[in-house]
Amino acid sequence: MTIDLLAIDGGTALCSSWPSWPPPLDADQRALVDDVLGSGLWGAAQGGLCERFSEDFAARHAAAHAVAVGNGTLALFVALRALGIGPGDEVIVPVYTFVACATAVLLAGATPVLTDVSASHLHLTAETIQEAMSPRTRAIMVVHLAGSPAPMAEILDVARTAGIAVIEDAAQAHGAAYDGRPVGALGDVSTFSFQSSKAMTAGEGGLIVTDNAELAARAWSIANVGRTRGGEWYGHQTIGWNLRMTEIQAAILIPWIGRLDEEIARRNEFADALAGELGETPIQVVAPPEGTTIDSRHLLMLRLAKGMSRDWVARALAAEGLPVDLGYPGLHRIEPVAMKSRRIRTPRFDAVADRIIWLRQPVLMSGADGAHAAAAALHRVVTDRRARGA
Ligand SMILES: Cc1ncc(COP(=O)(O)O)c(C=O)c1O
Repeated sequence: MTIDLLAIDGGTALCSSWPSWPPPLDADQRALVDDVLGSGLWGAAQGGLCERFSEDFAARHAAAHAVAVGNGTLALFVALRALGIGPGDEVIVPVYTFVACATAVLLAGATPVLTDVSASHLHLTAETIQEAMSPRTRAIMVVHLAGSPAPMAEILDVARTAGIAVIEDAAQAHGAAYDGRPVGALGDVSTFSFQSSKAMTAGEGGLIVTDNAELAARAWSIANVGRTRGGEWYGHQTIGWNLRMTEIQAAILIPWIGRLDEEIARRNEFADALAGELGETPIQVVAPPEGTTIDSRHLLMLRLAKGMSRDWVARALAAEGLPVDLGYPGLHRIEPVAMKSRRIRTPRFDAVADRIIWLRQPVLMSGADGAHAAAAALHRVVTDRRARGA
């Protein structure tokens, strides 16, 4: 009977459809986008929506200032430049993250140091940072990967002792919180992305967030061809570029701030229900670091038991209708990046690198019902002997 066959062998798939991402614009977004289109004030230098979005988003993340730019990579670049980081400097970057973290450092002329992460929560730790530091280290780029805040208490301790800056890359962590405080103003400066896959998106977009007024002024100037806020149009006080967001992007993003908590709750319902249903199976949800208040669950990272065949599991789950991703390879495995970076040993990450799979946002947005279907697919696949590489 086909029903007993795994879908990969021609049986019936256990999962059918998942919500689409990004969701269609809601009525508030449509109204605001229509206003902008009708006004003809599409650029941030003409209209006021980029400013309004920056203020609202900063306030939601308990920070004083924000500067809107074209994407999250540029936000990282601007944050680095605003901190005065450039040629001759080193920036600590987790080896397990998106390539833009390293390439933004390269764009600023500095050298990324590809640093090991915890084998359990996959974030930088005080220990791995200390292994990577040198007299040239100017900053630590902390990544709140998958919506899970990095262990900021120990990271800030090392940074303060060493007198170096902390940049939070919160591209994947809109609305996340650590030790009762939102990410975004925990370090010196933080950055967000609003690219298509993100929890808040306008197709593209980025933001630099900080509590430091001087740093915010420098970031604004760098992203506005070196002008000073309120200064002359052709007055250029520093080297800068036009890196601005558009008013249309801001119009999509402003109403989204109000939906963020509800969407985070939905993704957490999925994660909690799935973790519960997985029980003792050899695939487990990666647990967040101690001190996490809100994991915004941009992605759900799962860890396979040692010896399991990740490729086969991923293919079998896809056949069951549960799309999974193998995720980042590790920056040290991306040759052009590795060649331009300082590499150190990364034994903790290397031990787990090929045992991680991701469930993405559309799946997580299906809430507890979706988790039930996903758990059925996972149970079905992991019990097959081929999942163990046999
Ligand atoms: C952790 C991280 N940092 C930086 C970026 C770069 O953002 P963007 O694609 O908006 O340039 C992304 C996402 O794309 C990311 O996931």
